[in-house]
Parts: sequence; C-alpha cells; structure tokens
Amino acid sequence: MKNIIACILVLSLLSVAKAQENDGYVKPTDTAVLQKIAQWQDLKFGLFMHWGPYSEWGVVESWSICPEDEGWTQRKGPYSANYNAYVKAYENLQTTFNPTHFNPEKWVKAAKDAGMKYVVFTTKHHDGFCMFDTKQTDYKVTDTKTPFSVNPKSNVASEIFTAFRKENFMIGAYFSKPDWHSPYYWWPYFPPKDRNVNYDPAKYPERWQQFKDYTYNQIQELMTGYGKIDILWLDGGWVRPLNKSDSIVARQMGSKYNQDIDMPKIALMARAKQPGLIVVDRAVAGPYENYTTPEQEVPSAPLSHPWETCMTMGNSWSYVPGDHYKSSLQIVQLLVKIVSRGGNLLMNIGPGPDGDWDPEAYKRLTDIGKWIKINGDGIYSSKSVAPYSSGNIFFTQSAGGDNEYAFLLSNENEVVLPQMVSIKTGNSRKVKKVTLLGTGQKLKWTQQGGDISVNVPKAIQKGSGLLYAAVFKMTY
Ligand code: GLC
Repeated sequence: MKNIIACILVLSLLSVAKAQENDGYVKPTDTAVLQKIAQWQDLKFGLFMHWGPYSEWGVVESWSICPEDEGWTQRKGPYSANYNAYVKAYENLQTTFNPTHFNPEKWVKAAKDAGMKYVVFTTKHHDGFCMFDTKQTDYKVTDTKTPFSVNPKSNVASEIFTAFRKENFMIGAYFSKPDWHSPYYWWPYFPPKDRNVNYDPAKYPERWQQFKDYTYNQIQELMTGYGKIDILWLDGGWVRPLNKSDSIVARQMGSKYNQDIDMPKIALMARAKQPGLIVVDRAVAGPYENYTTPEQEVPSAPLSHPWETCMTMGNSWSYVPGDHYKSSLQIVQLLVKIVSRGGNLLMNIGPGPDGDWDPEAYKRLTDIGKWIKINGDGIYSSKSVAPYSSGNIFFTQSAGGDNEYAFLLSNENEVVLPQMVSIKTGNSRKVKKVTLLGTGQKLKWTQQGGDISVNVPKAIQKGSGLLYAAVFKMTY
C-alpha cells in the first residue's frame, strides 16, 4: 500500500513538473527578481494606460498604420482611402497633440481610492511615438513640433511615474519592441508589408544593428532617467529570435526573419540600473518573461507561474469617445475570479486627447473602491486555494492560511442572500468563526467536513448595503 502511495506521489509530482516545463515558464534565479515578483503578486490590482496622439482621432492605438487586412487595423476617416496619405496624417497628429488637462495626481487619487497598487504606462507603442523625452528621435511628446512640449509636464511618462510612485505604486514601463516609425524597423526603401520588420536583418545586418542600438538606448534612457522602475513590460512578441518562434508568432503574422534584439544584453543593462526589475518579454517564453499576460481573458484555472490578465475597462485600449465601459459588478467579479486563480488584474483606461479620462471611468473606480475597502482583506496578499471555486462562490486564503474567504458573486448590484449559504471549501479543518465582511454580524454555522452551512439572519439577507460580491471570512 505504502509503495502504491509513493508511486502515485512521484507520478503526480512528475506531472506537475511536466506541466511547468510545458508552459515554457523559466523561473528567474536572481533573488531580487524573485522577491519583487512575490511583492507584485500581492498587489493584485493595477492600472494600465494606453495613450498617444492616436487618442486625438479616437482610433485604435497604432494598428491603423499597419498594412494588414484585419478587423482592428481598418482605417477610417478622410485619409483612409490612401495608405501613404493616411500614415502622413497619422504622424502629423504629433503637431496637434496638446492634452492640457493632463493631471496625473488626479489619476493617482482615483486609482488609489479604487485599490489599485501598480501602474503600467505606454512609454512607446508600436507607432513609435515616444511619450517620454528620448534623445533617439524627435517623434516624441517633448519635441518642439508637439504643442504640448511647452507644458512643464510634457515629459508625460516621467510625470506619471513620479506621481504614482509618491503613493507607493509599483511602476511599470510598457515599451513596444517593434517601432513602425523607425527607419531601422520599417526601412523607407521598401514599403511595409505587415507588422514585421520590412527587410531581411540577415541581409542588412548594419541596419538591424542600428535598430538594436536604438531599442537598447531607449530602454536605457527609461531605466536611468525615470526613477525606480519595477516592471519592464515589453510588447510586440513577434520581435524575437527566429528559433524562438512558436504558435503565438505563427498566429501573429509569422515572420521568416530573425528579429533578435539581444534580450540578454538589454536585461543585463536594465537590471544593472534597476536591481530586481521584473522583465515581461511578452509571449516570448523563457528567462525574460517573468510573468505571463493573458490578454482580455481569464484563465479557467490557476496557472503554475506568476500571471496577470490585462483587460480594457472599455472596449478599446485607446481612448474612443463614448466607449462602452464594463459595469462595476463585472469588474469586481473579474477581479475576484482572477485573484481566486492566483493572478493579478491590470485594468486599462485610455486617456483622451485633452489629457483626462472619460467620467465613466472615474465612476467605476469609485464603486470598486467602496467594495474593496470592505473586502480587500480577502484580496491583497491572498493566495489561491483549492477548489478555487464552487458554483458562484470563489475562494482565496490569507498568506498564512489561517483565514479563508468565500466570495459569493451576486447577479445584481445589490447582494441578496438566502437564509442558508452553503460553502463547499474542500477543507475539513475545524472552523472557529465565520463573519460576513462589511456587516459586523456574528454568524451561526454548522460544519460537515469541508461543507459549511451559514445561517444568514433576516436583517442582512437584504438591504445590508453590500454590493457585487458578499465575502464570508472563515477563521481556522
Ligand atoms: C493588444 C493590442 C495592443 C495592445 C495590447 C495590450 O495586443 O493589439 O495594441 O497594446 O493588446 O495588451
């Protein structure tokens, strides 16, 4: 019998090891990096912002200048009939970009109040426009061609990072590896064909070297002149060594070219300036993808490595006038599901051309803040715990495991509870106390193994003021 159990144990350990190996995740060995990842995992909720001159047209970020025939790349407006005229007009948005209402302190206040704990900002998206004061190009917010350059807050990335850091947010720099403005990526000699480099780097190594230098220098600028940076969030996974190509790249207009930008060198430099830096070389599994980033989706089960869902609060990453924003109920419940599976939620709000968010975004953040002030205890620094969920109840546990939280998702904004709530924890430890967060009510319960039946007094079944998800805290 003992042998059989030992066999099963070994087999299951092997299959866990295999799963971890198969997902391609490579655990960092640098203890400072490991420490920072652990700290970041405790934060759970972050703010993402996509911002650039494209917000003036209210169109998709960057993609409308990409000559691919995809739904999201479609051009609209007066210049759309002619590709070259369109790109010219798009790049000319630099000369009218003037977000005079830009006030990062206002964003920090709203984000902090909503319980967000870190920020990731697009210092440069695929279109190559720099929202920081780079010395490598004049296609940037601080260039004299940009009207906002005369504003004392024109180094937008710097202002955002400083404002959020003051309130103890972790700071993440989104940076696009592909650059559709750089002559070293889309060489003007050839027309661009798709999102990839438009010449063969193996045939024109000097040009590719210039692109590598350009990228390295820009990242170096961000890692030196912008204070403490915690996360380098690199987008554009098709820029990678050819031998690293995988199914994701195949889906992303697989390139036959080797687009190796020498990540080991970049990461070494970046970590020399920013010890412990988390590097997220998105969708390029290996030592430089320190956490994975499921996009606009929530994995159906916990992952065996650190991860973060990035998701838009509206429908678009960029500012679109009149965008439809997710409801507060949806956002809170997304957060609960993600956290119950051990992930973080990075929620995007796209600032408008005037430099502020849609009022709807502020309303959502206020609602989320009210909920999280009551229930944050079961969110921050929590760990996932089997069975993760059962029906519409989702679980987390405190770091030491002394408390378990059962989040009962509500169908309507207002929580209405039945007289008896059945919580199937799958954990037969003896419960010492059950409370309903936000009510201060002492609850009676019975326990049978992992099944806990909680009696809900009439007075708090309805009209308790609880919204979106009620949280039962079980103390062991
Ligand atoms: C998608 C979009 C890209 C955006 C990214 C954020 O890949 O195409 O523009 O920056 O999501 O995760």
